Amino acid sequence: METKVFNKDEVAQAAALIKAGEVVAFPTETVYGLGADATDPKAAEKVFQAKHRPADNPLIVTVAGPDMVAQFATITPAAKKLMDAFWPGPLTIILNILPGKLSMVVTGGLQTAAFRMPANSLTRQMISLAGRPIVGPSANISGKPSGTRPEHVLHDFDGAIAGILDDGPTTVGVESTVIDMTVTPPAILRPGKITPKLLAPVIGEVQSDHHKVGAKETPKAPGMKYKHYAPSAQVVIVDHPADFPAALKWAEQNGQPFGVLATDDLLTDVPSAVPTYSLGRDLTSATHNLFAGLRWFDLHPTVTVILAEAFAQEGLGVAYMNRLNKSAGNDHFDPDQH
Ligand code: TXA
Ligand code: MG
Repeated sequence: METKVFNKDEVAQAAALIKAGEVVAFPTETVYGLGADATDPKAAEKVFQAKHRPADNPLIVTVAGPDMVAQFATITPAAKKLMDAFWPGPLTIILNILPGKLSMVVTGGLQTAAFRMPANSLTRQMISLAGRPIVGPSANISGKPSGTRPEHVLHDFDGAIAGILDDGPTTVGVESTVIDMTVTPPAILRPGKITPKLLAPVIGEVQSDHHKVGAKETPKAPGMKYKHYAPSAQVVIVDHPADFPAALKWAEQNGQPFGVLATDDLLTDVPSAVPTYSLGRDLTSATHNLFAGLRWFDLHPTVTVILAEAFAQEGLGVAYMNRLNKSAGNDHFDPDQH
């Protein structure tokens, strides 16, 4: 199939494809998503197939606004507060669903579903025009870094999906915060730009211990059970800038071709023959560039090791390190052992 690229003047064509049960990739402020009619199990099924996604990993229901959520789930007063404070924006809210309103294909058989109203106005326009919510997992082959640019989406899905709504690179760079409002206190299942510190003034304390899903349960958020965000090369995290000289030495002696994924300050000390990808200047740019960088190294298959810069686990740093740790399978450079 030909994958059509739609620009901002062609949203109606993208919406028509959604209505026809086809898969259309869409931009959000976090990462691109793979959209399909959430009320049509056959359409949602196509998304699982395109992504090679395990069937027990539930999909996000992406809406144009809270009204759309009310058709499918119970909006508790606390959930309403979150919507008022953070929507549209990078917060996905898990709610109890109204029985029979959403297909098992979407919910993975759970009595809950995840709802998200993205900040991207083109996407909200597409959903409004289609007149129904769309499922919206990140636009990447399952296990690979999420797509943050239209070219990433085409790399993974050209010829496999009907279209892509192109709005250039995303801004945040990592997926939305996922909060489960069906438990007390509410639990953060996946860290993102909306941090516990931002949530607390609105709904009080939240649990942010998101590591408790066993391999046999239906995962509460991705990456809890499945390998995630992994490029072909092994990512090795360098915890402190001061460790970089030792890490570079180790990588050179190791003999395997390696690359470096770090901010500009650190890259100035890397020998020019070593392939590098810049994370920009700071944590915000690093988060924005992380998945693009991991994907860039996949296009340079001579590299088998990627030394990657860590950030402190505070604020957005929690989300950055969550994704980086997963991409590395938690492999950290240990200056004492190398
Ligand atoms: O920023 C984002 O959230 C992006 C953009 C495209 O909107 N979407 C995204 O979708 O990251 P996805 O499917 O890759 O990650 C959402 C995760 C799912 O993997 C799933 O594990 C979790 O949210 N989830 C969905 N429904 C759930 C539910 N009912 N209970 C617990 N977790 C759920
Ligand atoms: Mg994903």
